[in-house]
Amino acid sequence: MSTAASQRSVRLTGWGRYAPAQVLTNADLERMVDTNDEWIVSRTGIRERRVAAAHETSASMGAVAALRAVRTAGLEVDDVDLIIVATLTPDHWMPSTAALVKEAIGNTRAAAFDVAAACSGFVYGYATASAYIAAGLAQHVLVIGTELLTRFLDYSDRSTCILFGDGAGAVVLSATSEPTAPTGIELTTDPQGAYMIWLPAGGSKAPPSLETIARGQHKIRMEGRETYRFATRTLASTGLAAAAKAGWGQDDVDLIIPHQANIRIIEAVARGLDLPMDRFFVNVDRYGNTSAASVPIALAEAVNAGRVKPGDKLVFVAFGAGFTSGAVALEWTADPARGPVGEAAVSPADVTVRQPVDWDSVDPIPPALAAVLARPLPGHLDLSDVVPGEPAHPARSAR
Ligand code: ACO
Repeated sequence: MSTAASQRSVRLTGWGRYAPAQVLTNADLERMVDTNDEWIVSRTGIRERRVAAAHETSASMGAVAALRAVRTAGLEVDDVDLIIVATLTPDHWMPSTAALVKEAIGNTRAAAFDVAAACSGFVYGYATASAYIAAGLAQHVLVIGTELLTRFLDYSDRSTCILFGDGAGAVVLSATSEPTAPTGIELTTDPQGAYMIWLPAGGSKAPPSLETIARGQHKIRMEGRETYRFATRTLASTGLAAAAKAGWGQDDVDLIIPHQANIRIIEAVARGLDLPMDRFFVNVDRYGNTSAASVPIALAEAVNAGRVKPGDKLVFVAFGAGFTSGAVALEWTADPARGPVGEAAVSPADVTVRQPVDWDSVDPIPPALAAVLARPLPGHLDLSDVVPGEPAHPARSAR
């Protein structure tokens, strides 16, 4: 990790995303809990979310997004000298998920560690990476947000299980000697909200036991209304503070990429700031809340969809358990056309997360999701009952 003192500006050079293929719809949730599509859509804006398959983990999803970000940046994997993973759903308590990602993408030289700031984790990781580069401690940093939340939800609690989904997003931040517009960064932590969104057991205060499991303390719990109030207040103030640090007023901002928790939260922030909704990128309808992965997934989609061009002023802003919040205000410099190139260059088969020796895993899939994960993938043609050369069965072809 040696970096010339002159190369201390930071640029976002790569971005990538990964979403598992299986879809969990509101209709699926209607069969599990007392809810309905109309309630979920009108109260949250969520129509569907993705569910990781049994062979997937936070590390494997994060590794695919990371490799895509490296390819988008036009770098080799070993150009990366620091890997930061933001997650509240690590593969294990130890080692870090970042260590597993490092091996899965084939990197041999980076330092790697995780950050824990829940849904604000990606922004906290971004801030950490910027500081490493500015201090001359790193040249190219991968910042990854990856979450496998569907394994930590109580599918009998309708107030939480409808909200969350799985996925991963990543960026590469690079040192540059070229003049770069200042980046504004704002981070906050308000411990009064510590037990508003939390996972009670599994840590040193309540180690996992038959009793903690019988009490359901290994699943996410949330006070929705308090969290909603915090979110609408802080998303605006944190985003504005970061913009001010970059030297901008709110009208200078071209696109805000907010944490995708609830469309009503984003609409309330837009109203509060008197900004039109087209200034906000929204994909919560298709992914639900993917916690630390939500901002980098949304960023990759926004750029690849042509919503961002060089010179645009962007604000990433998130809030989450803690309570935490964080925002980054930056001027976009990369060629947006690189995104689809990086995405196409990497398939999930290109990463391998090493299994532990003598590993005899339990089935990781929550029973409530077994049927959803067993059905054919959307867009997948089931040819298992077709015999080559057999004429189409009249009853089947009439379907
Ligand atoms: N389907 C049908 N009815 C429901 C459901 C559901 N899925 N969930 C709750 N309800 C009912 C409640 O029981 C309540 O009924 P009651 O009036 O008879 O008691 C009624 O709907 C209203 O409930 P509220 O909780 O007041 O509903 P609200 O409009 O606040 O929406 C929600 C709930 C969507 C959870 C909202 O509060 C919210 O989005 N909060 C923020 C959550 C969030 O963003 N969390 C992520 C934090 S990030 C992180 O770090 C993990």
